[in-house]
Amino acid sequence: MQRVITSPDHPVRLVADDAPAPPTRSGHALVRVRASSINRGETRLIPARPDGWAPGQDVAGVVETAAPDGGPGAGTRVVGLADEGAWSELVAVPLERLAVLPDGVDFVQAACLPVAGLTALRALRALGDVVGRELLVTGAAGGVGNLAVQLARDSGASVTALARRPLPFDGVRVRSALDESMRFERVLDAVGGAVLGDVFGRLRPHAKVVFFGGGDPVPLSLGTLQGSPATIEALFVYQAPGRFDEDLAALVQFVAAGRLVPRVDRTVPVGDVNDALAALERGGIDGKIVLTR
Ligand SMILES: NC(=O)c1ccc[n+]([C@@H]2O[C@H](COP(=O)([O-])OP(=O)(O)OC[C@H]3O[C@@H](n4cnc5c(N)ncnc54)[C@H](OP(=O)(O)O)[C@@H]3O)[C@@H](O)[C@H]2O)c1
Repeated sequence: MQRVITSPDHPVRLVADDAPAPPTRSGHALVRVRASSINRGETRLIPARPDGWAPGQDVAGVVETAAPDGGPGAGTRVVGLADEGAWSELVAVPLERLAVLPDGVDFVQAACLPVAGLTALRALRALGDVVGRELLVTGAAGGVGNLAVQLARDSGASVTALARRPLPFDGVRVRSALDESMRFERVLDAVGGAVLGDVFGRLRPHAKVVFFGGGDPVPLSLGTLQGSPATIEALFVYQAPGRFDEDLAALVQFVAAGRLVPRVDRTVPVGDVNDALAALERGGIDGKIVLTR
């Protein structure tokens, strides 16, 4: 099967090679990948991993060989979360990270959901009750952010989306900068750094902030929160509560019902993955870049 692996022979690190298909393993379905999306975190892993590493976590495709001990049968359309190798032709996916794709949800839409959708869903869950709350999503044009905006709106929050470009969300205030008077009770932060530092000065008392992105230090002094005590929680999607298979099934059902529409900037044949990575690095992407096979 064809894989995409890290190599010193290409300036952006990735090359195609051929390798045997992964062996059948208990608790794992072998999936023929039809679409996979690129996650920001993967762009950081690629230069850090050894040569020969096969990246890719988001899987949308068709079961090639069912797990010997259950799960969806051969030919079933599925979406899943792999540790690595999802930009290859075939990838083994643990059954507890796999959900069946309903009719009407295509592979490209599904490929936007595993890392980004699980992060958005779990971050929103960590905020608790958001009904009627003034809720801010930063990085709202991004892969996680666009899903977080829609899930928060669907949950009954009064959503403000902060993004560096216009976004076509109904029923959401979209802002490229926050008005001086704006205050928030709940925040989902995908950016960190100075953006999150600014948000800390705009919290209502007893606000809750869940942050999961960026990497730059966040400026925060005690005085900023004086009179506005807040709960601030870091979220790591792999450690957040919830079963991956159930959460993935919930996300694809939202898509099937038209309640969640993953934004896809472009689809790119997997052979052009290095160009796609360069585009993501430049920024200005509307939602996701999806790799197709
Ligand atoms: N903790 C976890 O478990 C977890 C899970 C998934 C993702 N993440 C992290 O969460 C973050 C978002 O992920 P993603 O996949 O949504 O990334 P993404 O698709 O690259 O989206 C990031 C968004 O943030 C915007 N942004 C970046 N820097 C900004 C700044 N200084 N001011 C304003 N906007 C800014 C970007 O706008 P431009 O396009 O204009 O630059 C983009 O719309 C990443 O850091 C990712 O690594 C963490």
